[in-house]
Amino acid sequence: MKSPEPCETASQRTVLQPSHEKPQNAGSTPDVTTTVNRGEAAPILDVADLVVDYRRGRSTFRALHGVSLSIGAGECVGLVGESGSGKSTLGKAILGLSLVSSGSIRIDGRDITRASGADRRRLAADVQVVFQDPYGSLDPAMTVGQAVAEPLRAAGTDRETARAAVAEMLDQVRLPADAAARYPGEFSGGQRQRIAIARALVRKPRLIICDEPVSALDLTTQAAVVDLFIDIQRETGVSYLFISHDLGVVRRVCHRVSVMYGGRIVESGANETITRSPAHPYTRRLLLASPVADPARQAERRRAWLRLRSPGESSTT
Ligand SMILES: Nc1ncnc2c1ncn2[C@@H]1O[C@H](COP(=O)(O)OP(=O)(O)OP(=O)(O)O)[C@@H](O)[C@H]1O
Ligand SMILES: [Mg+2]
Repeated sequence: MKSPEPCETASQRTVLQPSHEKPQNAGSTPDVTTTVNRGEAAPILDVADLVVDYRRGRSTFRALHGVSLSIGAGECVGLVGESGSGKSTLGKAILGLSLVSSGSIRIDGRDITRASGADRRRLAADVQVVFQDPYGSLDPAMTVGQAVAEPLRAAGTDRETARAAVAEMLDQVRLPADAAARYPGEFSGGQRQRIAIARALVRKPRLIICDEPVSALDLTTQAAVVDLFIDIQRETGVSYLFISHDLGVVRRVCHRVSVMYGGRIVESGANETITRSPAHPYTRRLLLASPVADPARQAERRRAWLRLRSPGESSTT
């Protein structure tokens, strides 16, 4: 894979850290986010004014109202928002799974808004997905090796090359090599999510849509899989659209964050800004609703959250 320059070496890894975690030497390296924002490098993903309507019987329901978002090479952009706000709809539109009414989606400068057939199949190499459900996303009748190799085999890769790629991917997601011969049913939720990540990585994509990829996991497993996402990004330079309702997870893994509410992006900015001192009342409520470990602070946040429940009152806080 042609990795973006800032992601290639250990000494440059700092650029892929979420901003609050940057080591002190980070200032001497080019910053992915800054570079992209200055327009010096084309974004991997560029969504502009996207509108998606769903048919509901005789009427239509507008799920996205002119959403714009871009993601640079090696960058992780978080998409947070309450249930039904349109996060998955945006992910599906990028994957070609929901019909776009207007606006555009570009990958690496190519307009893919209405790509279909052969174009979509070519795109599958560049854009992959990891879903929430580690139990439903793998065929129980396929061995792990077959499941991870499938995207390559479908693209015409020979068996031997695919087998070598599977071994490499299993190593990358920290699973033992003998996992290839076993079935998904023999693995835990966290391990299955690692298998799903290996499958998403096997064609060396530029972008992975991660739709609530750790939400179904218990907290300890969640932390380990989040760390894996971070490590993989450092190692490969892949970009993520990281969809989550959990600001704590997004704070750990993302460089920038966009907040969705009612099919619109209501706030976007650097991780630190959005997850610690958001401007929009809805984001403040979301922040106060996410749990913290300290019971005293949690009680204080609970009181603040209750004060903020009415949007009318929140602007004064
Ligand atoms: N296939 C569909 N047909 C009709 N309406 C749909 C369809 N898929 C989603 N919707 C509606 O579009 C809106 C956005 O749904 P979406 O799944 O994108 O939300 P979300 O932010 O991903 O929510 P969650 O956090 O629960 O996953 C919701 O009101 C949902 O009911
Ligand atoms: Mg969703």
